[in-house]
Amino acid sequence: MKKGLILTLGWVVMTVFLSMPVIAEDLENCITCHRDISPGQVKDWEASLHKENDITCSACHGEKHTGNDDATLAQMPDEAVCAECHEEQFNQFSKGKHNLGWTAMNALPITHVEPDILMEGGRGCGGCHNMGIKSEEQKKEQRAKGYKYQNNSCDECHTRHTFSKKEALNPKACQQCHMGYDHPQWEMWSSSKHGARYSIKKEGDLPEGAAAPSCQDCHMSDGNHENRTAWGFLGVRLPLPEDKQWAADQVTILKALGVLDPETGKPTARLEVVKAADLARLTQEAWQTERDKMIKTCTKCHSESYAREQLGMGDKIMQDADHLMAEAIKVVAGLYRDGIIKKPADYAFAYPDFLFFMQTGGAEGAKNLEVSHIDQVLFEMYMKHRMRTYQAFFHVNPDYAYWYGWAMLTKDLGEIKEMAKTMRAVHVSTKE
Ligand code: HEC
Ligand code: HEC
Ligand code: HEC
Ligand code: HEC
Ligand code: HEC
Ligand code: HEC
Ligand code: HEC
Ligand code: HEC
Repeated sequence: MKKGLILTLGWVVMTVFLSMPVIAEDLENCITCHRDISPGQVKDWEASLHKENDITCSACHGEKHTGNDDATLAQMPDEAVCAECHEEQFNQFSKGKHNLGWTAMNALPITHVEPDILMEGGRGCGGCHNMGIKSEEQKKEQRAKGYKYQNNSCDECHTRHTFSKKEALNPKACQQCHMGYDHPQWEMWSSSKHGARYSIKKEGDLPEGAAAPSCQDCHMSDGNHENRTAWGFLGVRLPLPEDKQWAADQVTILKALGVLDPETGKPTARLEVVKAADLARLTQEAWQTERDKMIKTCTKCHSESYAREQLGMGDKIMQDADHLMAEAIKVVAGLYRDGIIKKPADYAFAYPDFLFFMQTGGAEGAKNLEVSHIDQVLFEMYMKHRMRTYQAFFHVNPDYAYWYGWAMLTKDLGEIKEMAKTMRAVHVSTKE
């Protein structure tokens, strides 16, 4: 009995001993071979804390692929793989808005009439909205369409294979996505006093300890990966604002977002979509919680009353912008009502619909979506100029607030009124 045990133990020890160099060699193989095949990746990995901690290629890509002919067996790690060692960041990320990027994109009707390559291909909408843990169903869809990459969101800020915290703390890590047409936070911040001080400090012309808030200071304070703001992107919320006129204007906007039925004013099925993708804060507390957090952040450098006044002005300009917006929506809605614009077949209502963007029936799958020119101007007014007006207040940028925002908003309204007048005149004369 005793002899048997010793023999078994001896055998176990021997196999472990013999197999050890084999494992080590296997792992080294990934690196040796990939030093030829993709040297840049190996260099990046070698510069990472992962290398220092023996987190090798196979920790993320598995061990099934081992040579030149079986590369398809390499696993592409999703966020769950990172979670095995970084549970805290994973859990925070899961609760934040970034986790809904992919879902929000897919919630829009427009997404399903555009070419797949702009969604799954890592460019276009999908280049920025590859943010969020994909469900099994979403992964299946991706595979079925023939796409195999873009499985991970964590590497959008600390990119592979350096996976560096320092990189993610640089505001440039946000730039690729938070820029451009409808959310130029990069442009606004980098040319604001906050951003200017940040770069002046980097250049060494301000002392080490000088205050200069980055995107991360305000939106990921204390390294928290759960991100969310009070107003969010669409700038609508429930309950509606207390001011009667503002509430009425927001109702008009919600109709154009297809969330409220334009005739009855009752919620449509889209309200469920808005809820599921967390597109708007749905209670006063949800809004206030985020606002309070932000005030607390400002007060790391400013007085509380200063901070409250500044953010309050952001709310006020949104209120003013909404009034112009609602007026413009009503002008275009009147054209639908009077049969001057025909309802595109895919629209639910004879009413402007912001979630169909600027389709003109060109793309495959968008044949039923000839959106009129006046609708396109209206869309731009909402998506580009209204957004800029208030986003610029929040990001303390004078030029975006006025010239790129408010001034354009008033120009759009004028253009829409002028076009509507002409359209009505032409409509009457063609009838005669
Ligand atoms: C003998 C050479 C060799 C070894 C050893 C090797 N690889 Fe590869 N690997 C390749 C080749 C070749 C490709 C395909 C490159 C291409 O598609 O152009 C590849 C591709 C990959 C890919 C990308 C797959 C894709 O779909 O784009 C990953 C990830 C990968 N290897 C990881 C590993 C890991 C992890 C190991 C060790 C467990 C390993 N490799 C060992 C040669 C090797
Ligand atoms: C900490 C996890 C992690 C480690 C360690 C890791 N990778 Fe990756 N790798 C990723 C992620 C994430 C992706 C992107 C997956 C996607 O897009 O679906 C990726 C993608 C790849 C790709 C395909 C994309 C491309 O740009 O070619 C290759 C090849 C690759 N890794 C090779 C390696 C090699 C070689 C090593 C070891 C030197 C390694 N990886 C170590 C996480 C890792
Ligand atoms: C098997 C465990 C393991 C896996 C899987 C893993 N990591 Fe790590 N990671 C580590 C360890 C260990 C460190 C070093 C921790 C430290 O020193 O605090 C680290 C550090 C990091 C850091 C901080 C680097 C720095 O500059 O401070 C980031 C960012 C990171 N990992 C991201 C990822 C991402 C993204 C994935 C998934 C693609 C991933 N890790 C997968 C173990 C892992
Ligand atoms: C340049 C990167 C980029 C592109 C391209 C892009 N988006 Fe976005 N999208 C973002 C960012 C960043 C936000 C959040 C902006 C904000 O809150 O100000 C966002 C917000 C959204 C939201 C609102 C999410 C919310 O919770 O309010 C939807 C829906 C959306 N995008 C859909 C799309 C669709 C559909 C496309 C393509 C037709 C697209 N996006 C193209 C980066 C992008
Ligand atoms: C000084 C703090 C501060 C800095 C720095 C900052 N933001 Fe913001 N950000 C805000 C405030 C305040 C809001 C509005 C919050 C609200 O709705 O109450 C906001 C809102 C946002 C939103 C939601 C839509 C919007 O614009 O209103 C996004 C997305 C965003 N910021 C991204 C960024 C990015 C990316 C950077 C860096 C390029 C950045 N922010 C820099 C304070 C900041
Ligand atoms: C929006 C950009 C962004 C995304 C997406 C992101 N991170 Fe981070 N990550 C950061 C920033 C910024 C820091 C530095 C935070 C700090 O210390 O203030 C960081 C830090 C980390 C660290 C180092 C923590 C420490 O203090 O050592 C780890 C680990 C990490 N992230 C893992 C992840 C994982 C896992 C995911 C995906 C679930 C992820 N991150 C997604 C921006 C991001
Ligand atoms: C790969 C693209 C990408 C990168 C990189 C990225 N974001 Fe985002 N971000 C998005 C998208 C897409 C959304 C909208 C997600 C949604 O709400 O559905 C978003 C939403 C946000 C929001 C929430 C706005 C709201 O609606 O309340 C904040 C704040 C934010 N990002 C800040 C940052 C910061 C700070 C960084 C850099 C550390 C960063 N993001 C990096 C794509 C990105
Ligand atoms: C890390 C420190 C820091 C944080 C956090 C911070 N600021 Fe600032 N802010 C500064 C500094 C420094 C200046 C430039 C000196 C000054 O005008 O006080 C500045 C300037 C400003 C200005 C005047 C800009 C101009 O063009 O004159 C406004 C408005 C402002 N901040 C609002 C805010 C708001 C609102 C928040 C919170 C959302 C905030 N700041 C968060 C440091 C900060």
